[in-house]
Amino acid sequence: MCADKSSGKADKQQKSGKAGKMGKSEQMDTGLSAEVRAKFAGELGQVLDDAYSLMVHTHVYHWNVRGRLFEPLHKLLQEHYEALFESVDEIAERVRQLGHQVPAGDVKFPSGLDIPMPMPGEEVMVADLLARHESVVRKLRPLSADADEERDFVTQDLVNELLAFHEKAAWMLRSILNRANERSNPLR
Ligand SMILES: [Fe+2]
Repeated sequence: MCADKSSGKADKQQKSGKAGKMGKSEQMDTGLSAEVRAKFAGELGQVLDDAYSLMVHTHVYHWNVRGRLFEPLHKLLQEHYEALFESVDEIAERVRQLGHQVPAGDVKFPSGLDIPMPMPGEEVMVADLLARHESVVRKLRPLSADADEERDFVTQDLVNELLAFHEKAAWMLRSILNRANERSNPLR
């Protein structure tokens, strides 16, 4: 679907599915149809949910990490939760630019919080965060391609920035985990 469906007429034609779940969008004439805006507002709502959950996990692990990886992890996780805090703001504001409310009512927000108590060891924390970053990356990649296809270039730019952040964060965490494993198993 292309930008030429963006007229006021298309704006008034709310469709079912994800568009319906997002509710009525604000009217605008920016070259993106109401359907496309609802689609990406919905997709970004899911990204927001994942990012918020990851931010909380990262912050809690920043507080509770201990052991030989304490110093580098405590510092790195602070950098990550601060970056995640900025990213959730950018994601939420893009949802608003697309003409939708930021999901926070009937949506359980953030969902997916699953922080074990007592706190796991540092390597389990790193592995958990690594898996969460990689999961977000897997969801963002097709979203970038979709946004490009629908000519929602601002959403695509945002998604590409998020991809770069999460892939870099995953690389750092993976490297820390690999080094910890090498120390535990020097003959491997
Ligand atoms: Fe702190």
